Amino acid sequence: MSADPLSLALAMPKAELHLHIEGTLEPDLAFALARRNGVTLPWPDEAALAAAYDFDSLQSFLDLYYTCAQVLQTRADFRDLMLAYLARAAADGVIHAEVFFDPQTHTARGVPFGTLLAGLEDGLAEGAARWGVSGRLILCFLRHLSEDEGFATLAEAEPYLERIHGFGLDSSERGHPPAKFARLFARCRALGKPVVAHAGEEGPPAYIAEALDVLGACRIDHGVRAVEDAALLARLAREGVPLTVCPLSNVRLRVFPAMVEHSLPRLLAAGAKVTINSDDPAYFGGYLGANIRAVQAAFQLDAAAWYRLARNSFEASLATDEEKAGWIARLDAHFAAAGVAPA
Ligand code: ADE
Ligand code: ZN
Repeated sequence: MSADPLSLALAMPKAELHLHIEGTLEPDLAFALARRNGVTLPWPDEAALAAAYDFDSLQSFLDLYYTCAQVLQTRADFRDLMLAYLARAAADGVIHAEVFFDPQTHTARGVPFGTLLAGLEDGLAEGAARWGVSGRLILCFLRHLSEDEGFATLAEAEPYLERIHGFGLDSSERGHPPAKFARLFARCRALGKPVVAHAGEEGPPAYIAEALDVLGACRIDHGVRAVEDAALLARLAREGVPLTVCPLSNVRLRVFPAMVEHSLPRLLAAGAKVTINSDDPAYFGGYLGANIRAVQAAFQLDAAAWYRLARNSFEASLATDEEKAGWIARLDAHFAAAGVAPA
């Protein structure tokens, strides 16, 4: 083998499937947009904001995250945010990104749906032209809001349906089970869209099964608590259900006390279709490359495991079979050029 596993993993082509665009808002951009839009943030400067990133739960993070999102107001703001993310993702070898956005966070403040969507698309188009990154948008419903509010958001989205690749479910998991959105997700599926859902991050493993069985989710975001239920874990592996795991996020939000205690190796050992992602990288200590470094420092995965993770990221994407085959061929070429036969 002529390349070490970490170098291979950092440079290999990969997809990112669990990334909240609002979670890529870095302190410097937050303050620049606050100035541009005349918004006052409740921190005096960037350093004070960054110092507030000391979370003890998902909710403690979400409170700060929704506050910062208020600086996003114009089409140009959403474009700048997307472009800043894609620059970093491309540097980490990301060639395809499926990006979550939370319209309710913005429309509730009076930002028109069409404005934020156009800005995100401007960024995707520019990112594709500059770095060749393919991008898709997944609209997430906020689960702390009601299903009726979700239906109102879906109605706003319907004129733009061909520009929205799928639907997801995020925000506060505890006390907001997937079944709360059964009718809404049935409607999304009836519109012909794939649906995904956050489950088993802070919530119990039963929420993972519910997301599959009640919502019809084709992919589970996080799912890291599946290791607490052996039968569920066996089912996920048997059915090849993709899990979009976010290691740094889970440590920062205290799902696990330290990276060495993360369930990732147990998920891999069980044969689950795991992918590695950055979730809200501006808030959790880094982008995909930083997640890869942290995982490697804790678990010393071999080249075959990294190949499998990257291959899973393509296979689990919502892209066409033709796109997936092209990306996997690029992945194989990367390993072959490094003198490592793909597993
Ligand atoms: N929204 C942004 N990041 C999230 C996460 N990790 N879990 C749930 N909702 C989120
Ligand atoms: Zn997430």
